[in-house]
Amino acid sequence: MCGIIGYAGKHNPKDILLGGLKALEYRGYDSSGICLKNEKDIQIIKSIGKIKNLEEKINKTDLIDSYVGIGHTRWATHGEANETNAHPHRCGKVTLVHNGIIENAALLKEKLVKKGIKFKSETDTEVGCALINYYYDGDEVKAINEACSEMEGSYAFGILFDDSNKLYAVRKGSPLIVGVGVKENYIASDINAIINYTNKYILLEEGMIAVIDKDSIKIMKGNKEYNYKVLTADISAESRDKQGYDHYMLKEIMEEPILLGKTLKPYIDDLSLIPDLSDYEEVHIVACGSAMYAGLIGKSLLEEKAGVRVLCDVASEYRYKKIIYDRKTLVILVSQSGETADTIAAMKKAKENGIDTLAIVNVKTSTIARETDRQIFIEAGPEIAVATTKAYLLQVSIFSLLAIKAANDLDCLKEVDKLPGLVKSVLDNRENYRKIAEKIYKENDIFFIGRKIDYAICMEGSLKLKEVSYIHSEAYQAGELKHGTISLIDKGIPVFGIITDDDIKDKTISNIEEVKSRGANIFIVSNNKISEYECIVVPKVSDYFQPLLIVPSLQLIAYETAKLRGCDIDKPKNLAKSVTVE
Ligand code: M6R
Repeated sequence: MCGIIGYAGKHNPKDILLGGLKALEYRGYDSSGICLKNEKDIQIIKSIGKIKNLEEKINKTDLIDSYVGIGHTRWATHGEANETNAHPHRCGKVTLVHNGIIENAALLKEKLVKKGIKFKSETDTEVGCALINYYYDGDEVKAINEACSEMEGSYAFGILFDDSNKLYAVRKGSPLIVGVGVKENYIASDINAIINYTNKYILLEEGMIAVIDKDSIKIMKGNKEYNYKVLTADISAESRDKQGYDHYMLKEIMEEPILLGKTLKPYIDDLSLIPDLSDYEEVHIVACGSAMYAGLIGKSLLEEKAGVRVLCDVASEYRYKKIIYDRKTLVILVSQSGETADTIAAMKKAKENGIDTLAIVNVKTSTIARETDRQIFIEAGPEIAVATTKAYLLQVSIFSLLAIKAANDLDCLKEVDKLPGLVKSVLDNRENYRKIAEKIYKENDIFFIGRKIDYAICMEGSLKLKEVSYIHSEAYQAGELKHGTISLIDKGIPVFGIITDDDIKDKTISNIEEVKSRGANIFIVSNNKISEYECIVVPKVSDYFQPLLIVPSLQLIAYETAKLRGCDIDKPKNLAKSVTVE
């Protein structure tokens, strides 16, 4: 979380920093700030809330002439979202922005306080800033190296020194790239923040320090210069446009049919690109949030269809749990961003135990993409809405292929060609989803119930609804409800029943009857019309692909509900798109 941008070049940095921060706002929007600098002056402007507040403040301020600057958008970790805690932070001759968590900040602060250093904010970042300043004796790289050797945790820093005309950057654990321009260079948490200016970039490796001005980029390892590679990003500025849609979330849902075809095509053309799970005795699927729910669908398909033994866990648990690796195991890490801190930690745990790792990932340059043994890329392109939609659907589609290959059910692949059209037909039913949203948007509690794979689908349907509409929602195994939770069912409470699994359909319907008789307002989402109920019916396909047709309808119901409630759909409160802290 938190987004960093930095600029050194021929233009006034203000617009470049603001544009970059808008592109990075998905990483956090509790507060933001910029620092502009020239040979003599430093100017810091901060504001709480979204970038537009900062922009308004900047537009009312007399700005200094400057050629170098840094900017930051914050997802608060240490200290509340106020202006004092907002970045940039400044101590002595050092001004910086930070993404990550300095885990030993309390200890370092104690040491610095004893040396007479005073702190203004509650942040770990200010401690990092004071530490660099403490070691600064005119040699910038040495000061950064010395301070970093004492910091534990994760960080990406963009740093300015009063005595230097250059922009400095360093990272460990948190992402940061150096953008390469003509007579101007950049730093950014991700390439999208600078894609309007350049698609050339350098991946800053852990522990290396970038020293940047408009004409040059030096990458330092310790105090020695390091030869770097300039990479080219394969994305366009247009792919970040809303393209006429009211929200990115809607645009991204509507892209699903095309992206599904694009993602599956290379693997259908050459199935050998999909790993053969028969090489393993056990598979662990590890991820966070929606990516983990995609994994739950994968677990269900792999177990039910191919008899593969699967453990699926949230990464924040898996990383600290005792995991018994006594069988030949493959760990599958699922992540849109490829930068989720807990998922990275789970990947490292697997690697330390000598376990093979496979990533199902969207961002090709991400840490997870770079550090796993094998990768299957989904072709979601940039996903801007904080709530994932298209990336989740594409992750599920990869699990469909893994299961088909593991079960050697290759005949089912014949269905792939018609999937994009079928997903489109589900999305075309938007009017219906709007009508359902009208019936539920004033409610306080909503339930999603299903069994087996349908329960896994419920998990994502429920998460999507709660994160964008702020309605409390729970996913429950339909058969488990009566062991306690059914006491929450009152007259009029909406309950969505997901029914695709024919083997268990009658059982789920009985559970739906149980809540209906207690007054629940039932909505069924199924591949069959179930009389007596208000039903969303999606086309029937093979079990491997059925979730791909149910999920888009739940995403649109969540979207329409949030819209009726007037929520900030693309940037729900308290969230950040890329959770790069533990
Ligand atoms: O980038 P990742 O796929 O690793 O992110 C995982 C979760 O943080 C993410 O899916 C989160 O749950 C979203 N807010 C869901 O919409």
